[in-house]
Amino acid sequence: MEAELLNEHASGNEKPGYDFIVVANRLPVDRVEGDDGELSWRRSPGGLVTAIAPVMQESDGAWVGWHGSPGEELEPFENDRISLIPVPLDEEDLELYYEGFSNSTLWPLYHDVIVPPEFHRTWWDNYKKVNKRFAEATAKVAAHGATVWVQDYQLQLVPKLLREARPDLRIGFFNHIPFPSPGIFSQLPWRKQILEGLAGADVVGFQRTADASNFLRCMRRYTDRTVKGSLAIPPVSSEGNSASLNICRAEAHPISIDTRQVAEMAHDPEIMARAKQIRHELGDPKTVLLGVDRLDYTKGIRHRLKAYGELLADGEIHVGDACLVQVASPSRENVERYQQLKDQVELMVGNLNGEHDTMEHTAIRYLHHSYPMREMIALYLAADIMLVTSLRDGMNLVAKEFVAAHTDDTGMLVLSEFTGAADQLTQSLLVNPHDIDGMKSGILRALRMDPTDSARRMRRMRRHLREHDVASWSKAFLASLAQPLPIDSLV
Ligand code: G6P
Repeated sequence: MEAELLNEHASGNEKPGYDFIVVANRLPVDRVEGDDGELSWRRSPGGLVTAIAPVMQESDGAWVGWHGSPGEELEPFENDRISLIPVPLDEEDLELYYEGFSNSTLWPLYHDVIVPPEFHRTWWDNYKKVNKRFAEATAKVAAHGATVWVQDYQLQLVPKLLREARPDLRIGFFNHIPFPSPGIFSQLPWRKQILEGLAGADVVGFQRTADASNFLRCMRRYTDRTVKGSLAIPPVSSEGNSASLNICRAEAHPISIDTRQVAEMAHDPEIMARAKQIRHELGDPKTVLLGVDRLDYTKGIRHRLKAYGELLADGEIHVGDACLVQVASPSRENVERYQQLKDQVELMVGNLNGEHDTMEHTAIRYLHHSYPMREMIALYLAADIMLVTSLRDGMNLVAKEFVAAHTDDTGMLVLSEFTGAADQLTQSLLVNPHDIDGMKSGILRALRMDPTDSARRMRRMRRHLREHDVASWSKAFLASLAQPLPIDSLV
């Protein structure tokens, strides 16, 4: 039934459609109001957009996603040389599909149950409904044989729905967040449906090898598929495999950043001057420490503040000599756990500043804002030590941006071993954020590191990022997606 419905749209042959389509929860644009009150669209900041926009601009592609205003239906439009196909979401979808199933069920479940996931059938029903809407919008605009690349945990049912409607498509899926082990994943009442939804893709990409193997272990345990190497093979029915039962391959493709663009911005005289100004405004401390996160419980902000507070209390770090700048950008503000976290973080910052501030200097400069990329690069340049202390993180592009911005090899990165980035930035100081003493030693080690040692480490990490940037990430994924399955892999 569903397949028929979708096919009806797809067979409308008025126009050939797009050859390459990205499908993501959000379109890569934000609506902005100019001084004259005129509304326009501006490219949004953030990992996913930074990652895919260059590829979209090079190919004649389209991006299917929500445009950000609940209840509003918009016609397709173009921005910054990308065709945008808006999918409407109303208030109820936001509450049930986005805040509910995506961000209060899947997000905590996939991040090591740092907070308990909630399971509600009404959320699941709406998640199915919205995924179907995204699949229909895509099936309608895809050219025959097009490549479709579906992004992230909000849309895990789209690959199967699309395949049923359009068996001619080449379908990829990339999961930007971790994929849990079978023990944790098994809690999900709809685990089989989610796995089958994903398996509709020809290639499912993950940040880490560990995520890909978790996925394959879940496939083996909770679906009828046979897992052979990196392949999840459907059971052969009496009539042979139906068109909608494809072989799915799981692979690790760690995402990266536009390394050259970051380095170029770091050389921009205006941005360099702004970095100097930031340090000056902080009272020219000897050391600036920096944390930049969405205000999310996965980021380990409280653990970081605890370690820093203890270093101040122990007299290892002195206010005036050092300052911690913590940018915590607003995120998912209607979700209760995020509201609680904001209160907890703000209480901790208030306590620590009350305890340690002087008339002249502050211990922590806390900024609950989002900033444009240019200001972020200035902040990275102004900082000596970057603290990334996530309890679990799919990748963490902030860590990569900090390293790429320090083209003079100054600075040092303290990085949680529970980030995807830890697999690649192996010259950083790796820490376990649950181990407060270990984190304190890591921060002190970064503070006291011999500059030739830190320069060597930064140089090696920058070289890695030059060789593995976002263009090489998408190129590798799409090359793999284009590649037919080796027949002998099935024997
Ligand atoms: C993570 C997810 C993205 C998401 C982003 C911001 O990076 O992997 O899919 O877009 O967080 O979260 P938001 O809920 O604001 O889209």
